Amino acid sequence: MCGIIGYVGKAEAAERLIEGLSALEYRGYDSAGISVFTKESKLLTLKAEGRLANVAAKVEACAETRGVHCGIGHTRWATHGAPSDRNSHPHGTELLQLVHNGIIENYADIKEELLNKGKTFLSDTDTEVLAVLLSENYAQMGDKLGAIKKTLSAVTGSYGIAIAFADDSTHLYCARSGSPLIVGVGEGENYVASDITALLRHTRKYYQLREGDIAVVSEDAVVITDKNGDPADLPLETADWDVQAAERGGYPHFMIKEINEESETVKKTLNTRIKNGLPDFEAEGLDINMFKDLERVHIVACGTAMYAGCVGKCRFESYARMPAHVEVASEFRYAPPLFGKGDLVIIISQSGETADSLAALRLAKECGAHTLAIVNVIGSSIAREADNVLYTWAGPEISVCSTKAYTVQAALITLLAAAAGVARGTVTEEEAARIASCLHDELPLAIEKIINNADPIKAAAKALHTTQSMFFIGRGSDTYLASEGSLKLKEITYTHSEAYAAGELKHGTISLIEQGTPVVSIANDPRMYEKMLSNIREVKARGAMIIAVCAKDAEDIIKVADHWLEVPALRSDIAGIAAATSLQLLAYYLADDRGLDVDKPRNLAKSVTVE
Ligand code: G6P
Repeated sequence: MCGIIGYVGKAEAAERLIEGLSALEYRGYDSAGISVFTKESKLLTLKAEGRLANVAAKVEACAETRGVHCGIGHTRWATHGAPSDRNSHPHGTELLQLVHNGIIENYADIKEELLNKGKTFLSDTDTEVLAVLLSENYAQMGDKLGAIKKTLSAVTGSYGIAIAFADDSTHLYCARSGSPLIVGVGEGENYVASDITALLRHTRKYYQLREGDIAVVSEDAVVITDKNGDPADLPLETADWDVQAAERGGYPHFMIKEINEESETVKKTLNTRIKNGLPDFEAEGLDINMFKDLERVHIVACGTAMYAGCVGKCRFESYARMPAHVEVASEFRYAPPLFGKGDLVIIISQSGETADSLAALRLAKECGAHTLAIVNVIGSSIAREADNVLYTWAGPEISVCSTKAYTVQAALITLLAAAAGVARGTVTEEEAARIASCLHDELPLAIEKIINNADPIKAAAKALHTTQSMFFIGRGSDTYLASEGSLKLKEITYTHSEAYAAGELKHGTISLIEQGTPVVSIANDPRMYEKMLSNIREVKARGAMIIAVCAKDAEDIIKVADHWLEVPALRSDIAGIAAATSLQLLAYYLADDRGLDVDKPRNLAKSVTVE
């Protein structure tokens, strides 16, 4: 989703802005732009539809962008108005230029009022309305902070904004509500950014703005006030992500680099949560005994995080013997709230900023449920607002398509469910120790084996080169894994695919199976082998090309298969987490084989901060 960068300091501002935007490309965007103060202290804006390289070329060709020291930049993911040069940010007037993440919900009403006053607009965006309103307020008041406050109090929706006022080439102004924004603190230079990855080459120190904060940033000072106008006493935080972690390090794509980090990050995530061989969450202040009295668990998330939640659902049900519901955050929010005290709501999110997941968390709290966040980004909104937080230690995930974040979320929630089982007396300590050791020791090894023996996966991907439509099937928890595998494939290969509970396929969908239709058939549970075998035979008999994902003891399934992606031998309740890596690789190699932009799939955003 949109990315913001602002720079003020001694270095070449335009270079820093383009570099920062390049680090933010992973969030997903369709146009970009910058505004800088020229040597004559005039605001110069350059923007272009498409890749950042288009703006970089304009910057390169414009001598006025050199020797300048302050400016703002933006990568836009279109919401209001198609991707185009004129809808790209920054937007503004002769008084100011502004970049914005989020959505101004009442922009149409404000625009009408401004049009009635004779104001004109160059774009279709909600952001330009904000810029024009702010200009009008500033022209009337002559006070920058006052005008910003007045403007923001008139808008509804969400925003992270950075503003350059034309009459002040040494300061940037920024504010947030709903959309994340940080102020990066360097040596003789300061930054504004939508996330820390934009700044890692230059600083790891930053202030994370809170809801309603406004910051004024110059080369050597950062002044932050809170929503009441009082000085905001924010801690100066230090990112523990380093620049290597946020760069490709010799891999052709972030996605394959991140898949290769899965085994390490699983160990890192579980290390501190296993004591004396048993799951242990005490150090994080989580009272595991609360599970004794809980009626239900609701797991709420979006996208891949939601499918990691499905792993949790299966394990809470099988280990802790308690009902667990997985809900898509954007639906959970608007359904009748049938939860409250006595329920636990677990929110899973890599970014910790997904707008619907954050809103679901707030609703759960309002209704009196206990909330627990499983989040990757430290200090993110969801992490801060939940009653308890368990961080996944996946490090920065840059590829839009989520891989290592899923694996660590699934492993962590499985460990949590085992701990809940011990608390409820439904899992013995011996069994919990076996689960913990399988997750911590065997799972990482199995993932490594899959990555190191990827030839069958590459061969299956080759066989899918011209495929336009396919299926993923499984039973039990493999049904959810089928959905996650199908999602990966759709996201980065643009192949239509559907995931089905294998036993349900014959109730309609089997009519779509033709000669050569690929069916990825996942069979991690030996109790289901026979049933899966029958379902596989049903589609095979109608011409399907079978890509089996199973362990080597599923001999009969392997015999029927055209391709076999081996899942190393693991407990069946954990094997699915390793099998997910095979499905990620299948999507990866197919996208790569087709020459697609693996890390930046069309239309998608990494962090979805609009509802
Ligand atoms: C976007 C991303 C997905 C991700 C989902 C939830 O759609 O493209 O990869 O799973 O958001 O994001 P979150 O940060 O909350 O895990």
